[in-house]
Amino acid sequence: MNNEITITIDGIECRAKEGEYILNIARANDIFIPAICYLTRCSPTLACRICLVEADGKRVYSCNAKAKDGMNIVTQNEEILEERRAIMEVYDVNHPLQCGVCDQSGECELQNYTLELGVDSQHYAIPDTKRGTADWSSVLHYDAGLCIVCERCVTVCKDMIGDAALKTGPRGGDPLDKAYKATMPKDAYSMWNKLQKSVIVPSNGTEHTNCSDCGECTAVCPVGALTERDFVYSSNAWELTQVPATCAHCSSGCHIYYETKHTSIDDPEEKIYRVKNEWNYQSLCGAGRFGYDYENRDVVQDPAAFSRAIDALKKAETIRFASTITNEEALMLQTLKEERGVRLVNPEVYPFQQFLGHYREAGGRSLYPDDFPSIMKGSDFVISVGAKLRSDNPNARYTFNNIQKMNKGAGLYFHPVGDTLVPTFGKQVRTFAHQPGQEELALYLVLDLFADREKLPDEVADYLAQFHHERTRTVTETVMESVSETVTDPETGEEKTVTKKVPKKVEKEVTYDHNDLVEMLGGDPETFGDDFQKMMAKKSSFALMAGEDLYFHPRAKNLAALLALIEESCGMKLAMIPPKSNALGVALICDLDAEAAGYTVGYNAPGDFVLSALGTGDLDMPALNQQEGTMTTMNKRVVPTNAALPYGGYELNDLMNGLDLGRGLTVDWTPHLPGQKGFETIAFDDLPNGYTNDGVEQRGYALREAPRAEAQPEVEPFDEAVLLDGEIVYRANPQRQFNDFTDKAHQIFEAFALYASPERAEELGERVEVIFGDGRSLTLDVVADDRMSGAIVEIPDFKSEADVYGLFGANRYATVTLRKG
Ligand code: SF4
Ligand code: SF4
Ligand code: FES
Repeated sequence: MNNEITITIDGIECRAKEGEYILNIARANDIFIPAICYLTRCSPTLACRICLVEADGKRVYSCNAKAKDGMNIVTQNEEILEERRAIMEVYDVNHPLQCGVCDQSGECELQNYTLELGVDSQHYAIPDTKRGTADWSSVLHYDAGLCIVCERCVTVCKDMIGDAALKTGPRGGDPLDKAYKATMPKDAYSMWNKLQKSVIVPSNGTEHTNCSDCGECTAVCPVGALTERDFVYSSNAWELTQVPATCAHCSSGCHIYYETKHTSIDDPEEKIYRVKNEWNYQSLCGAGRFGYDYENRDVVQDPAAFSRAIDALKKAETIRFASTITNEEALMLQTLKEERGVRLVNPEVYPFQQFLGHYREAGGRSLYPDDFPSIMKGSDFVISVGAKLRSDNPNARYTFNNIQKMNKGAGLYFHPVGDTLVPTFGKQVRTFAHQPGQEELALYLVLDLFADREKLPDEVADYLAQFHHERTRTVTETVMESVSETVTDPETGEEKTVTKKVPKKVEKEVTYDHNDLVEMLGGDPETFGDDFQKMMAKKSSFALMAGEDLYFHPRAKNLAALLALIEESCGMKLAMIPPKSNALGVALICDLDAEAAGYTVGYNAPGDFVLSALGTGDLDMPALNQQEGTMTTMNKRVVPTNAALPYGGYELNDLMNGLDLGRGLTVDWTPHLPGQKGFETIAFDDLPNGYTNDGVEQRGYALREAPRAEAQPEVEPFDEAVLLDGEIVYRANPQRQFNDFTDKAHQIFEAFALYASPERAEELGERVEVIFGDGRSLTLDVVADDRMSGAIVEIPDFKSEADVYGLFGANRYATVTLRKG
């Protein structure tokens, strides 16, 4: 399957992997083939047919024809060009002439291909059908009149995002004039026939999508049919300046472009109008796309406040900070620790840093070995442990989903909070809604299912063996039974006996391997074994994604050792999800302390003196959309971000200069990031920030990993003392909320509330007081989340003033009392 092959496209020799689509090979070699409906990381839909080429003399669609060694491809000849031109003419039939005001004008693929294929006259016509507009959600606007039914939106939502919130529905168009069938090119006819019958509708049968509101469908729409509600009619595409940057909201660190322009005729100040992404290579979530206007506006330098900040830093014993900072700022804070002896406190990252240390000790690696793009591309069986997959980290979720859709994959999802969306990602997804605290058991089950026993220490193999027992169960089988009956010939009246086979259900006892681990984790041990065998059929490449529940866990050390043992013995890829924006950068650069003490300066966090990019502190700081610098992503890359908006106040580097510890500019710190932690001495201005044509990420650089040290993971048995009793709350954010900055953005409105399954929300009523073990409490509105199931409820951590980390400590679960209020 992955053999190297050579094919020829228009006389150019191209090296490729066997089984790659011809279109992708052409793109990787800078050869242009028009394509409208195809999305690189999704399944081909064959909706547009414009990508047709000749392969060894036969017409094929390059987006779904796989290359074979020695193939000869011709991308255009007279017949192909005639077909493509007819396709574009058909797309132009009845397309509204509103380019002057259309959001997509200037970057519209219908405009581009119409010109590219030389459409200067129209041979086809049909009466138009009235097609309306609709606001599908708070962020999505659909204009069916502009829709060319390429189905990109449907495809990306299913294959990448996992919501499958859209489908085609009836358009009510007239049938085509039959005469066209005989006279026009056949692909253009078929495409038109289908186009005439369809529009796009929400797949839940209502007028609203009730989806994740990620907006990826608007990004991939080639025309102005599916747009962001807030952006509609606000600017022409060509008036906007694109600023390449990195999203600041979660540890994915997605590549984005801020698109900016002056605010209005009266106000020349730059404003972000929207965020765009390279959707062929990376998908965004709703926070990345819509949570862009969190800047600290209208700030001017206040020398008196600056001087008070210098005094505060001089007397600070602790600096407490959030991880929405750049690597350079993290290095400044570490410098303050080294030079002035302050404690550095970051409760979002501290347990993760400890966990990385435990993992390094157990397995000898400086970092987890794999990243999410390589897992997405190369795995057909994926396991998620310790992450709330739907909302903790969008790229982990997209990876899990995409493996099911594109790699004919299977998946195991271990998580205590019941989720109704994850099981829909694929037929071979199995979920274990285990008890909080059983994460060790989940990792033991992974070892049990996947480990090469030869690579396991004897005591671990013995420990696993004790969970297995041979038992019997009753199964129902259908057998064919011979039945004889006497029939009378209606003509002769003669009687005769006929025998026939009829199906009959019989019960029988069979022996099976009863796995206690499956049962303890909430699965069905009677059926799991057979089911797992089916899941494993034709699977060859396995991956495990580890999430925040494992770091914020009383048994984190053992969990880290179990991960190291899985990596050692299961031949599995392994990647971790850092808990917050630049958590990995902070974990690598700063020596964090467990607790604050004495006078505390907060940086985007509570303190006696607060430096704040939210505009709510004692001295203003720039937000991350107003700063240059780098961030360290979950994929272990150090990537640059640029300032989209001006900022008139002081930066952390100015304070460092005030303490005689600064450098000229913030980005002058970039080449000084710690080399012993894998950072390079590359200047900020030399860092690339984009993708190659074939999707290779060329952003910044990959962290250098230290040579692996000798280590033998030592694991302990599961400790059930960590299990919780009673009413349990889980610390998790709703989709699109990650921190105070997403909360500030005007298109992100998910509330700071208690989230519960619809049944649990009904029981709890409208408002509830959540009383923690130490007597502290929060009173919150109750929000029903129709994708949650089970009794555990969730409290978000995105509002720092609520000090939710303080309430939960180094755990993600807590036992509480819920009082209706
Ligand atoms: S809304 Fe856009 S992406 Fe979706 S089918 Fe229509 S044209 Fe294609
Ligand atoms: S916003 Fe996202 S989840 Fe909703 S329909 Fe579009 S792609 Fe699907
Ligand atoms: S791009 Fe191949 S059929 Fe549309």
